[in-house]
Amino acid sequence: MLPKSFKPVSINEKLEETGMKGKNFIFLTDWTKQQLLSLFEAAEMIEPFWKNSLRLMDGRVLGTIFFQPSTRTRFSTEDAMVRLGGSVLSESNPLHSSSTAKGESLFDYLRTVSTYTDIIALRHYDDADVFRSLGGSTVPVISCGWGNVTHPTQGLLDLYTCYRAFGSFDGMRVMIATPDLSRARSGHSFAMGLAQMGAEIVYVGSSRNKIPELIQGKLDAAGAKYKIYNDLSNDEMMELMGSCDTCYLPGCSVPKDNPEERAAFLDLIRPFYITLEGLQAVKKKFGKTVGIMHSLPRNEVEFEKAIDDSEFQLYFQQMAFSVPIRMALIAAMAGVR
Ligand code: CP
Repeated sequence: MLPKSFKPVSINEKLEETGMKGKNFIFLTDWTKQQLLSLFEAAEMIEPFWKNSLRLMDGRVLGTIFFQPSTRTRFSTEDAMVRLGGSVLSESNPLHSSSTAKGESLFDYLRTVSTYTDIIALRHYDDADVFRSLGGSTVPVISCGWGNVTHPTQGLLDLYTCYRAFGSFDGMRVMIATPDLSRARSGHSFAMGLAQMGAEIVYVGSSRNKIPELIQGKLDAAGAKYKIYNDLSNDEMMELMGSCDTCYLPGCSVPKDNPEERAAFLDLIRPFYITLEGLQAVKKKFGKTVGIMHSLPRNEVEFEKAIDDSEFQLYFQQMAFSVPIRMALIAAMAGVR
């Protein structure tokens, strides 16, 4: 006997089921496992058609404001709105070409842009200023990277990639490795999503650059299962990798202008370098392929380019999911009519 609720699936109902309409997107721990799974189901419904015309956001406007450089986040967020049938108003150099250059506060900037748009995507170098100013917006705001603490759409994309690759988060262990956990905003966003899904997080870092207190507080409050390993040798890191399902590199910027700082950082990152041979050795010893994920852009001191053409490469595959998941996110937050 079929239940009374038996009926055709509806993308609108799936998006409404997320309960994200009208909310900001700042930390993945702000949303429950069920909300995130509903969003993933909506993204899966969109995936086969994202290059066709899906007019879920017909007549709606996204404002993108990027105070920091971006290739992937801005393009994929704008692409998502365009492919939903909406339009985009974009400011990619606000320090020079917006009234910020005349001293306008971020609060007033957001108040103004939210008058012209239905949803805003904001990247900013100063998370404290954003948290103070967010109340200026009258429409939902998506964090596209604020300070060192949050980059939730990247974390969402990484989480969705795992959902699509592994199907379930039960028993999953993910390594997040970088010599600078103090600035790993995409890694921490991913970790918060993994925490909501009940997966285990294996942080590999350096005792010189600790996880920000704000992040650790949120992981603890979410009951995250995580352990931090500091100052491992490369052999120790690769051995630990054998106990994980995937390894995530949240990216890092090597200091350029200060030779001493640069030399110290290169010294710090050396034990983190991942080679194709190292991954093959892990496979031989542990009998599994541990794929490398990366938020990109990459830096040549992080891992060997030969991994690009191997079975261990997940970082370019991740990007292929970036538009469908952002389409689902925008439609869920702006709300379908
Ligand atoms: N992953 C990421 O945030 O890339 P961009 O800086 O190019 O947006």
